[in-house]
Amino acid sequence: MTGVNRGLDGVAVAETRLSTMDGEAGELIIGGFPVEELADNATFEETLYLFFRGRLPDAEELSAFRSDLAECRAIGDEVLAVLRRAAEEEKPAMDALRMGAAAANLGTEDGDPEADALRVVAAFPTIVAAYWRYRVGEEPIEPDPDLGHAANYLYMLTGERPDERAVRGLETYLNAVVDHGLNASTFTARVVVSTESDVVSAATAAVGTLKGPLHGGAPGPVLDMLKEIHESGDPEAYVREKLEADERLMGFGHRIYRVRDPRAAVLEAAAEQFYDDDDDFFETITDFEDVAVDLLAEYKPDRDLETNVEFYTAALLHGVGVPQELFPATFGIARVGGWMAHALEQLEDNRLIRPESRYTGERGRSWTPIGER
Ligand code: ACO
Repeated sequence: MTGVNRGLDGVAVAETRLSTMDGEAGELIIGGFPVEELADNATFEETLYLFFRGRLPDAEELSAFRSDLAECRAIGDEVLAVLRRAAEEEKPAMDALRMGAAAANLGTEDGDPEADALRVVAAFPTIVAAYWRYRVGEEPIEPDPDLGHAANYLYMLTGERPDERAVRGLETYLNAVVDHGLNASTFTARVVVSTESDVVSAATAAVGTLKGPLHGGAPGPVLDMLKEIHESGDPEAYVREKLEADERLMGFGHRIYRVRDPRAAVLEAAAEQFYDDDDDFFETITDFEDVAVDLLAEYKPDRDLETNVEFYTAALLHGVGVPQELFPATFGIARVGGWMAHALEQLEDNRLIRPESRYTGERGRSWTPIGER
């Protein structure tokens, strides 16, 4: 073995028909559609169907799929007990999602991967919403089978039927981030099923990967940053301070994109509708983006650091009314569709994913009995 590829840049370990991106051109294709087209038009159920079955459903197929998904939303009392405990201990939502997904009996009796995958996708919003209800001192709200996936999530958070604008905003978000090539959490999911483990385990492991700030944990800090700048009115001072302290600016930079992440434009357009003309928060956001990109170019001239998906995720989810603490878990509610579709794809033509490491430890040590160390 020769060198080590830290971070596996540029290494392809799977073929996929689910999504692909061009990091130089700033293009993202999901299920054959440009992200802009899918995000703005599809319901999340249509995107899931596209992922699980390889094509868009007709009206009858969509209605049956919606019912199948809605039937799998409920979670048992034992899961609620775990979530209540997580909320009482103020565990982050991603920990609660991991704990809830692990505690839920999501695997079907015959272990059919596609049926299990559907159950996982259906249960995620219920787990997150139940945790949230406990966090705010309320009882969980039972899922409403008459509502679509996105609308029902918002309903379970508040107990109120969401308006069309909020539902459309959330669906745009879920569609835009459902999949993104072999990102770290999707890779995790594929590694897990490549051992012939199961899709529920894959989802649980992937939640742990998504949690980190270099992946799905950025939008909460982005919103904090935006609020701080909105108050201070001085984006430049903020950015200079961060970059001079060699800190990373959340919501900027990407392993693949050298230009602005195409999802940023989709989410920006969706977010804008939630901020009235007399609300200057949105102006703060767009002004800050310009200042940040210019200063990143000044401080890191050798890098192409542009806006990533998480920047406008914060603006959109805040506009839709999703609590900030739930931003990463809401990302999980979207991305689990991609994880599950990738897991099923991996199983179609599986080969154990097993890279290598280069040993840098010692050799030839001789054992010293404990009393002589
Ligand atoms: N702010 C300041 N500097 C940055 C940033 C940033 N946001 N992103 C990268 N850099 C710098 C690094 O410090 C490094 O500089 P150096 O070579 O002088 O040390 C250089 O750019 C390259 O950084 P890498 O870590 O090699 O780039 P990588 O491709 O691994 O990073 C990542 C991608 C993790 C997204 C990074 O840009 C980052 O940390 N961004 C901030 C966090 C964030 O927004 N996360 C959400 C990512 S989007 C998603 O996963 C859905």
